[in-house]
Amino acid sequence: MALKIAVVPGDGIGPEVLAEGCALLRDLDRTLDLGLVFDEKDWGAERWLKDKVGMPKGALEQLEREVAAVYFGALGDPRIPDMAHGREILLGMRQGLDLYANFRPCKCLHESLSPLKGKGPREIDMLVFRENTEDLYVALGGTFKQGTVDEVAQDISINTRKGVERILRHGFDTARARPRHDGMKKLTMTDKHNAVRFGGGLWKRTFDLVKGDYPDVVAEHLYVDVLAMEMVRKPERFHVVVANNLFGDILTDLGAALMGGLGLAASGNIHPGKIGMFEPVHGSAPDIAGKGVANPLAAFWTASLLLDFLATKDATLAPRLLRAARAVDAAVSACVAAGPRTPDLGGSARTKDVGDFVRAHVGSTLAA
Ligand code: NAD
Ligand code: IPM
Ligand code: MN
Repeated sequence: MALKIAVVPGDGIGPEVLAEGCALLRDLDRTLDLGLVFDEKDWGAERWLKDKVGMPKGALEQLEREVAAVYFGALGDPRIPDMAHGREILLGMRQGLDLYANFRPCKCLHESLSPLKGKGPREIDMLVFRENTEDLYVALGGTFKQGTVDEVAQDISINTRKGVERILRHGFDTARARPRHDGMKKLTMTDKHNAVRFGGGLWKRTFDLVKGDYPDVVAEHLYVDVLAMEMVRKPERFHVVVANNLFGDILTDLGAALMGGLGLAASGNIHPGKIGMFEPVHGSAPDIAGKGVANPLAAFWTASLLLDFLATKDATLAPRLLRAARAVDAAVSACVAAGPRTPDLGGSARTKDVGDFVRAHVGSTLAA
C-alpha cells in the first residue's frame, strides 16, 4: 500500500527546509522501498495574495480520505501582517482535523548546544504536549467600537472537559510508555488556576481526577510562571509536560532555546487513529528567508517523527520505517556533534551543506 504524504512547504524558509526534508525522504524511500508518494500543495502566502484562498474547498476531506500524514514547513509573510492565511491553513488543519495533541520534544542533542551552564543532553530531555484545538486559539470574540478610543477587544478561551481530559490522558499514556532516559515516569501539568479561575479550574480538577488512573506515573502540578523558571533552572526534573494551547506555544519556544534554538525543534500534531501533521516548531523566518542559510535540522527531525508515525499505520512497512527514522536521528546527532553548522548554531554552513551531510550520513548508516 502506498503511503501518501501531503507536502505543504508554505512561506519564507518553509520551502527551503522542506526541500531538504523531502530530498531525504525520497532517498529513504528509494533505499528502503517505503512506498511513499508525495502530493505537494501550493497553500501559502502567494496563493492567498492572488485569490484569497488558504486551503481550497474540500481540502481537509481530501487529506482525511487520501493521505497518511502531512509534512508542513512554515507560514508567515510580511505582506499578510494579520496572518489570516496562516490561521486558515495551519490552525485549519490542527483544528479541522481535530489533531488535539501537539507534541514537541525538547531534547538537547549535544553539550555545546545548551545555553545553560552544566546542563546538557542528560538534563534537557522533556516532551511537551500542547493542547492543540482549544483555548484562545478558537477565534471566538470580537471588537466593539473598533478604531475609537473606547475600543473594546475580547478573545474567548475555550476549555472543555473532553479536550482537557484527552490531552492529559495522552500525556499520561506517553509518560508510562516512554520513560525518560533515566527511567523517570512523570507528568507535569501546568496552568494558572490561581488567577485564571474557570478554565484553569477545569484543568486542575480534570488533572486531579485523571491522575488517579496512572499510579505508576508521578503527577505534578506547577503554575506556568514557575514552570518557565524551572525549565531553565532545573530542566532535569521534567519528563512529560502538558499545557494548554497558548502556554504550550510559549513554553516550546523556551524549550527550543534549551535545545540550541528553533533551528532544531520538531513537532507532530496528532490524534490517534487519524492522519498526523508534522512541522518544525519555527516559523517562516523572514529575516533569513531566501538566503540559503536556514537550519534544516528541525525539518529533518520532524521527518523522523513523521516516519515513526507512519510506522504505526502500516505493520508491514513498520520495521523499515523505524529503521529510516533511527538513521535520521543518528544523522542529526552526528551533524550537531561534528558536522556543518548553519549560522544560528554558530557556524557558517548553508542549508544545503547540512542537507548533504545528513543525507550522506543516512546513506552510510543504511549501507552498513
Ligand atoms: P520564526 O520562528 O520565524 O523566527 C524567529 C527567529 O528564529 C528568527 O530570528 C529566525 O531567523 C530564527 N529561526 C527560525 N527558524 C530558523 C531556522 N530553521 N534556522 C535558522 N534560524 C531560524 O518566528 P517569527 O519571526 O516570530 O515569525 C515569523 C513568521 O512566521 C510570522 O509570520 C509568524 O506568525 C510565523 N510563524 C509561523 C509558524 C508556523 O508556520 N508553524 C510558527 C511560528 C511563527
Ligand atoms: C507555532 C506557531 C503558531 C502557533 C502560530 C504561527 C499561529 O507559533 O506553531 O508554534 O501559535 O501555534
Ligand atoms: Mn510558536
